[in-house]
Parts: sequence; structure tokens; C-alpha cells
Amino acid sequence: MRTTITISTINLKGGSAKTSTIFNLAGVLHEAGRRPLLIDCDAQQSATQWAAQGGDRFPFPVIPLEIGKDVKKFKAQLDKIKTERKSGVVLFDTPPQLKEEALLCALLSDIVLIPVTPSPLDIWAAEQAIKTVREAQSVRKDKLPKILLVPSRLVAGTVLAREIKGSLEQFNEAVSPAITLRVVMVEACIAGLPVSLYAPGSPSHNEFKDLLKFVYKNVKK
Ligand SMILES: Nc1ncnc2c1ncn2[C@@H]1O[C@H](COP(=O)(O)OP(=O)(O)O)[C@@H](O)[C@H]1O
Ligand SMILES: [Mg+2]
Repeated sequence: MRTTITISTINLKGGSAKTSTIFNLAGVLHEAGRRPLLIDCDAQQSATQWAAQGGDRFPFPVIPLEIGKDVKKFKAQLDKIKTERKSGVVLFDTPPQLKEEALLCALLSDIVLIPVTPSPLDIWAAEQAIKTVREAQSVRKDKLPKILLVPSRLVAGTVLAREIKGSLEQFNEAVSPAITLRVVMVEACIAGLPVSLYAPGSPSHNEFKDLLKFVYKNVKK
């Protein structure tokens, strides 16, 4: 496997669990000793605030970096941060709505996670995100980034939770293990920590470990 991998979460819809997914994935990467560097490209800076809330206990860099109009400048700043931090894995949290930004992050990534919650409205939004990433694939012509649909915020035991995997198969893209809706996920946010540190050994922590395994398996393919 290559030494540095780049992962982003993309979904043009707000509230689709982009930040929660990439932040907690960074948490399990840190646990695995992979030196994650989370680049917060969202002007709302949710990830940056989440990390700041944890203060000194927070274990890995989360750096706000807006993409803006000057892509060259963004890339230069990004390269500088990457060199300074000697990171093993770079992660992008992307803003909602801004297709150009999402496209650029896809162009820079090895794998894009598209979190999808079990509602038709969100499944339609996922289709838009898939189109954006496929656009990046056609520009790059190296079949990258890989696309991973991540069923998110599932209410355990419901029909919707059971059926979402089937609904997502229509897109012919890899579907990862699911992330369940749990209070501990919000509590981790309040504590300013990834769930891996806030609630080690919890079902949510284990779901992110499983997600990480799946990400690696798909990056290697
Ligand atoms: N698995 C989960 N369990 C509980 N709450 C969640 C879960 N995933 C996301 N959330 C909550 O859902 C809201 C939207 O998630 P967020 O990650 O901010 O989405 P986005 O970055 O796409 O806007 C947040 O309040 C977040 O805390
Ligand atoms: Mg967000």
C-alpha cells in the first residue's frame, strides 16, 4: 500500500454525517498509529471546533483550510501543512452545497466516503455526490478516487436500517459496514473527542474500527 493515503467525506447535503464520519475515522486512524491530519475545508469549521473543545487532550491535528477561489494557493498551503505534520493519512472534511470544492477534494483523494442516512431524500442527495466523484474519476483516468457509500445514523432494529444496504446497491459502488445512531456519538462531540477516545470499546468505536478496515481493503483493491 502507498505510505500516505488521502480520504474525504463528500455529500452536498448538510447534516448527512460527513463531519462525524471523517472525524471518528481519524480517531481510529490515530489509535492505529497512522498519524492522521484532518483538513477542515468547511467554512462552518465544525471539525475544528469539535477538536478545540477537547483542548490539550485532543490527540491529532485538525486544521481549518478553506479552498476559496485560488486552487493553487490552497494546494500550496496544503502541501506545506502536510510536510510540517509528517502525516500518514490526510483526511478532508468538505462543506455542503459547494460542488467545486467537493470535486477538488475528490481529485486529491484516494477514496471518498459518502455517508447516506436512510431516507429517500438522502439517497437522492447521495446520487449527486456519486456523480461528482465519478466526474473526478473521469478527469483522473486512474480509477481513483474509490467510492464508498457509508450507511449512517441508522436506528438499530428498524426496517429502514435493514433495507438501506439493498437501496444503495443500485449505485454499483461499494457499501461499507453501517454506523448506528447513538447518543455516545453526540456526547463524544460535546467532550471534544473522537468516539474512540471518549468511549473506547463502545459499539460506536467498534463500528469505526470496522469502517477503517473496510476503507483499507477498498483502497488496496
Ligand atoms: N451516528 C450518529 N449518532 C448520533 N448522532 C449523529 C451520528 N452521526 C451524526 N450525528 C449527528 O447528526 C448531525 C449531523 O452530522 P454532521 O456530521 O455534522 O453532518 P454534516 O457534516 O454532513 O453536516 C450532528 O448533530 C451529529 O452530531
Ligand atoms: Mg460537516
